[in-house]
Amino acid sequence: MRLNPIPLLRHWAAQSLRRRLWLWMTIIVAVAGLSTGAVSYIFGYQEANELQDAQLRQIASLVHRYGLKPSSVIEPHGADADRDARFIIERLRTSGTHTLANGLALPSKLTPGMHTIEAGAHSWRVFVRQDSSGDIAVAQRTSVRNEAAVDSGLRTLVPMLTLVPLLVLLVSWVVRRALRPVRRLASLVDARDDHRLDPLPLDEVPLELRPFLASINSLLARVASMLERERRFVADAAHELRTPIAALTLQAENLDHTALPTATRSRLHNLQQGLTRTRAVVEQLLSLARVQTGPASTQQRIDPAQVVRHVLEDLMPLAEQRRIDLGLERQDGAPILADSTQLYTLLRNGLDNALRYTPEGGRVDLALSTESARDGRSWVHIDIADTGPGIAAQDMDRAFQPFERLDRAAETTGSGLGLAIMRNIAQNLGGQITLDNRPEGGLRLRYSQLAQPSTATAPAVTQGTPSSHPLTQDNGRPGPRTVE
Ligand SMILES: Nc1ncnc2c1ncn2[C@@H]1O[C@H](COP(=O)(O)OP(=O)(O)O)[C@@H](O)[C@H]1O
Ligand SMILES: [Mg+2]
Repeated sequence: MRLNPIPLLRHWAAQSLRRRLWLWMTIIVAVAGLSTGAVSYIFGYQEANELQDAQLRQIASLVHRYGLKPSSVIEPHGADADRDARFIIERLRTSGTHTLANGLALPSKLTPGMHTIEAGAHSWRVFVRQDSSGDIAVAQRTSVRNEAAVDSGLRTLVPMLTLVPLLVLLVSWVVRRALRPVRRLASLVDARDDHRLDPLPLDEVPLELRPFLASINSLLARVASMLERERRFVADAAHELRTPIAALTLQAENLDHTALPTATRSRLHNLQQGLTRTRAVVEQLLSLARVQTGPASTQQRIDPAQVVRHVLEDLMPLAEQRRIDLGLERQDGAPILADSTQLYTLLRNGLDNALRYTPEGGRVDLALSTESARDGRSWVHIDIADTGPGIAAQDMDRAFQPFERLDRAAETTGSGLGLAIMRNIAQNLGGQITLDNRPEGGLRLRYSQLAQPSTATAPAVTQGTPSSHPLTQDNGRPGPRTVE
């Protein structure tokens, strides 16, 4: 099968604006270069011929004016001169054929003017000038003339032809440069995470791209308002559910205080548990809707150790209830820029998972550390390591989906919203959550965030959380394992 290059080329070019521009500009440069070359070749050729005709005329008029001896040959000068380039001058007889000095036979009746005559193996250019004592003929071989003309034509064509590949390279460079803003725009869009829906900046973009960008921006605005409506709906719905659930809980409590048969009391107990679960789901839904609004405006420089201790203190009863050894391993965290309420919610959800999914008698360790990265910045890591079942590697992404409980759906507590809330908060705070199964068993959840550069003038803002917890040191410095 014969390959047709045109459709292939078309297909190749259709996939990229750069290729298309390059192809068309190359075609234009090549066609323009070649046609200019061809035209200047033709002009150069003609010019050289005309010049040589003028030479013949001039020689004839010199012979006429100064009465040079007829039958003369003007030999070219110089050692390396081409003998074929000589001029032959002759007075024509009035009748019969005339044989010139070099054996060129000319018909005697040649009209005055220019002629091209075939004689023998050669073709000659002859100029005949009228003269009272017989016409004067001046002749030169056309091959010599053509050679000179071609030479002069090529001298204009060759630079043109060498220029074409250079121009093609230049075109490719210019196209690449001109499309740089498009690439920059693409990387700008790529660098955004799912939560960045604010408009893209129009002013740094070339005019031609602005309509396109404006459309993207209006799409972003529509998506943002749709998400906001959805979020508000969830928040409103959860909020609306709070009151009736509180009322139901109160009713159930009242009922609990009355005398009831044992079977009924056990059913009431189930009902109360169901209400507690429902209230927890509604609270988590509200919490999710709240953190989905984006970064909190109350971000400030905080000491993460205080938030960690606060969470530890609040969940200690759960740890005790489940007979889990909960401890704080290290607490050398540099200050970070965060909203302490959101950071608290994040850590609380993480620690709650660790305590719930670790079998009784297990161990959960919290650790706060600071790591200096190679680029000179410091990262603060907050780790929650448990001795539970961990999460299968292929399920880790899924675990962050709202209402996703993996294989825990049968368990009563939990809504599947914890990790979704945590991821939203991490995005708000500019940090990230990573899950790892520990080699010794259990899950390690790590929340990492850039540390605030230490400035002598801005000490860490202390938060409104109680810092005098009896179990932990309250200076935020590395301390011994405080809970054993
Ligand atoms: N520390 C953990 N160990 C084992 N599995 C976990 C842990 N944390 C979370 N998971 C799994 O991820 C799922 C989602 O967690 P989460 O979003 O907090 O929802 P919930 O805890 O309400 O089920 C849990 O149902 C559980 O299957
Ligand atoms: Mg959870």
